[in-house]
Amino acid sequence: MKQQSRTHYCGDLRSANIGEEVVVMGWCQSRRDHGGVIFVDLRDYTGLTQVVFKKEINAASHELAESIRSEFVLSARGKVNPREDGNVNPKLPTGEIEVLVEELEILNPSLTAPFMLDDRTSVDERLRLTYRYLDLRRPTMQQNLMLRSKAMHAVRSYFIEHRFFEIETPILTKSTPEGARDYLVPSRVNPGQFYALPQSPQLFKQLLMCSGYDRYIQIARCFRDEDLRGNRQPEFTQIDLELSFTQPEEIFSLIEGMLQYLFKETIDTEVHAPFPRMTYQQAMDEYGVDAPDIRFDLKLVDLSDIAANCGLKVFSSVVAKGGLVKSICVPGGADFSRKDLDDMTDFVANYGAKGMAWVKLNADGWQSPIAKFFSDVDKHSIEEKVGGQIGDLILFCADTKKIVADSLGNLRKEIARRRHLIKENDFSFVWVTDFPLVEYNPEVKRYTATHHPFTMPNLEDLEKYADSDPAKIRSVAYDVVLNGVELGGGSIRIHRQDIQKRVFELLNISNEEAQSKFGFLLDALSYGAPPHGGIAFGMDRIMMFLLNTDSIRDVIAFPKTQKASCLLTDAPSAVSTAQLDELHIRVKASAQVQQS
Ligand code: AMO
Ligand code: AMP
Repeated sequence: MKQQSRTHYCGDLRSANIGEEVVVMGWCQSRRDHGGVIFVDLRDYTGLTQVVFKKEINAASHELAESIRSEFVLSARGKVNPREDGNVNPKLPTGEIEVLVEELEILNPSLTAPFMLDDRTSVDERLRLTYRYLDLRRPTMQQNLMLRSKAMHAVRSYFIEHRFFEIETPILTKSTPEGARDYLVPSRVNPGQFYALPQSPQLFKQLLMCSGYDRYIQIARCFRDEDLRGNRQPEFTQIDLELSFTQPEEIFSLIEGMLQYLFKETIDTEVHAPFPRMTYQQAMDEYGVDAPDIRFDLKLVDLSDIAANCGLKVFSSVVAKGGLVKSICVPGGADFSRKDLDDMTDFVANYGAKGMAWVKLNADGWQSPIAKFFSDVDKHSIEEKVGGQIGDLILFCADTKKIVADSLGNLRKEIARRRHLIKENDFSFVWVTDFPLVEYNPEVKRYTATHHPFTMPNLEDLEKYADSDPAKIRSVAYDVVLNGVELGGGSIRIHRQDIQKRVFELLNISNEEAQSKFGFLLDALSYGAPPHGGIAFGMDRIMMFLLNTDSIRDVIAFPKTQKASCLLTDAPSAVSTAQLDELHIRVKASAQVQQS
């Protein structure tokens, strides 16, 4: 039989089509047999249409229709009819019509799917990932990937409109210094040598600026061999951009415009701009993290000065040792039960806190195990500093700077969640600026770049602290944070060789190492590099917000598991000895055992 040409998508038919002869194609969602009349819900990505088989219309097609099972692929030609009164389905856009089939073709049968392909059934994720091609037939996954396509289109058109050029950069390349481990690819024609997959296009986009392309954008695949937590994948997508002759202000307003356009085009949501700004220092002081969630208050308040001289040993001794005592005031929190308080104490213990003192501000004064250690004057100062009112709860943590920040930073989020302080559908963007240029890394016993080694330092700070206290040097680096999640990060780059050399010195990178790793960039800087800067966004993370999902795997067609494997293709997998020989590689015996 000659295959018909499709005339309509399943979801497109309406009453206006009544009387037309159409050909629809798709998958059988379900089949019902009602006393000789067979109803099939035919599905494609646009929706469902009901196709009907009656003996008196075409006996052969009716007989064939009896063999249809779920997920069979069908082509049906027939006339669009109004549904009988009792059969109209107001929930379905095509619910007023049906196609009375004159000719049916089964294009392909199907085995029974290992799980239901609707959105109501919850299915084990490993099974979903193993049969991803079936999982991707489910309406939610189809909507996710289609919105992603729309988002990529919106991003591209925004930047093209703003005079950017889309330029591809290599995948087989040299290690880029973004701080994670590289994925390596052996070279057959250069025995013993390896490419690295890019952790980002950082160095290439800087070179493109040196080459005069002025504004670059790429929706770029990046690869990082790192521990996979929550919103991380080993292979992910960045919206990556770079501009010449630019300043942070220009980048901020360009990005705010991009996010406004993107949210409007995809989910019809207005994003308010300009975004508030906060320095890294303020974020750490008030929120305990560098990616603050500013949808709710519950800020951290430093009480170390008062605690230093109070009668409570655990507090005063922590301050004496250079630690901090900080607090959070929970409005109306005096109704926390004993169990709530115990839960909070257990919660902060996960972050290393050795205890959590509390005070309930009752009408008749402090109710607290530590009340007796504070004078009335100190009590009053504490209440004033935290802005405490009658009915509030004050929680205290005394420890090292890091433990206090981790404990209270996470505790404020936990309390906000428990007490429903977070508004649904609230998108609170914030720029975090002035990140430290370097941080001390005790593992390698030297300073490492907070962002990457090409980030422009604050030049005054560089003069002042390079020799005494490098951690105090701020950089011209910024992040965009949304609801407590880092969406993107970037910086103004170093375009002068002398500054780049000083920063390498700070990072304890020798001339030889710098030359062998990024000599090509250093050379480019000495051939007329323009001032430049840029930023990159996690496309997958943006999609998680647009789709309101907690799983990064639900916004990627073929994602990897926590163990960085693909259950569908079974990658990574062992390869033949012949392949290894060609690549001049021998696998260690210990690794071979794990592979089998
Ligand atoms: P950075 O390393 O901060 O900057 O990365 C930019 C953004 O990429 C996203 N991201 C990830 N998303 C999913 N899985 C991962 N494993 C992952 N790692 C990072 C985050 C992050 O904010 N070259 C610089 C950018 C620049 O300076 O212009 C860079 O890559 O959303
Ligand atoms: P203690 O003297 O150990 O019984 O502690 C008195 C109060 O201080 C209790 O409510 C403890 O939970 C609390 N506490 C103990 N250690 C800390 C700490 N490091 N930070 C905050 N509170 C603490």
